[in-house]
Amino acid sequence: MINIGLLGCGTVGSGVVKILEKNKTDIAKKTGSEIRIRQVLEKDPDKCYKIGLQSDQVTSHFENIINDDAIDIVVELIGGIEPACSFIIEAMKKGKHVVTANKDLIAVKGQELFATAEENNVDFYFEASVAGGIPIIYPLKQSLAANQIQEVIGILNGTTNYILSKMTREGRDYEEVLREAQELGYAESDPGADVEGLDAARKIAILSSIAFNSRVTLDDVYVEGITAITLRDIQYAKELGYVVKLLAIAKEVEGKIQARVHPAFIPLSHPLAFVNDVYNAVFVNGDAVGEIMHYGRGAGEMPTASAVAGDIIEIGRNMHYHSNARIGCTCFKEKGILNISE
Ligand code: NDP
Ligand code: HSE
Repeated sequence: MINIGLLGCGTVGSGVVKILEKNKTDIAKKTGSEIRIRQVLEKDPDKCYKIGLQSDQVTSHFENIINDDAIDIVVELIGGIEPACSFIIEAMKKGKHVVTANKDLIAVKGQELFATAEENNVDFYFEASVAGGIPIIYPLKQSLAANQIQEVIGILNGTTNYILSKMTREGRDYEEVLREAQELGYAESDPGADVEGLDAARKIAILSSIAFNSRVTLDDVYVEGITAITLRDIQYAKELGYVVKLLAIAKEVEGKIQARVHPAFIPLSHPLAFVNDVYNAVFVNGDAVGEIMHYGRGAGEMPTASAVAGDIIEIGRNMHYHSNARIGCTCFKEKGILNISE
């Protein structure tokens, strides 16, 4: 039996509880052990009861999770920097493996968290932190590891892609579509992080750190969001044969990393022009593999839960088969940052 301590039962947390329950028989076969939600930390217990959790599974005190020796994996889905960061560090120090979807945290405190995981010999997985349900972190760390990566170009924010797609295809108003994206659970609790480009910037910081084996943080990324984009801009783009997308781009130029997020005109014939609604896509260009594109739902309850649950299952396998802990990326070689003005 593998016991989970879940922090946060909002959009993604609920999805994780649902998928682990719905597919539990198959998951137990794949993992080698049954996975059980033992305790859930949540401010509003009704969110937990609504999806079938029992009162003895719900707590409003982190101590009940950290001091429970039976809990093997802490799954952090409350979001934000604090108290999420302290909770994760405490959990690692207690020897608990950790899964998170928290890109805010990884983009700013990744290095400290990877070091803490290594010191305490625990697994630390964060596949859902970039591009929701699309597998991209594991492929970059493992399957593409032999490549020299030349560039990573992505549509990495579901909310802004949803807004721009609805404005382009249905001529709808920005504010109205943003409200819809919030209702659908795509937007961050502060949707400013989506529309001002910060969420995509955090994600490209994480991807470039892995792709270029360097340390890139949010502060290293040039950021421009979509708040100034009007229906008129979108109309002009259309007339010229383009579509407006919020792109996140990272390249290695003469040994330095350049990372940026900004709206861009994409020719209608380009594959990224076909990425609509909440879908995300990530292009990777490697010296051996050439160009590849990962595509799928970049936000929302079940796609994101799919990535979180995948990490839980991988840790479950590591535990069951007594593999060594497999940790984020701990061996960065510092490369310089190429400023956008250079
Ligand atoms: P939600 O706001 O829907 O869920 C978070 C839940 O945690 C809320 O119920 C919140 O309660 C609760 N919570 C927050 N702080 C505490 C605390 N200290 N103690 C107890 N409960 C707490 O967020 P999401 O599920 O959308 O996102 C979770 C994480 O996943 C974030 O890091 C986000 O960036 C990331 N993510 C989200 C995706 C999505 O599509 N939604 C996709 C990929 C990643 P309250 O609302 O009352 O504060
Ligand atoms: N708010 C984010 C988005 C959630 O819209 O892409 C997924 O990280």
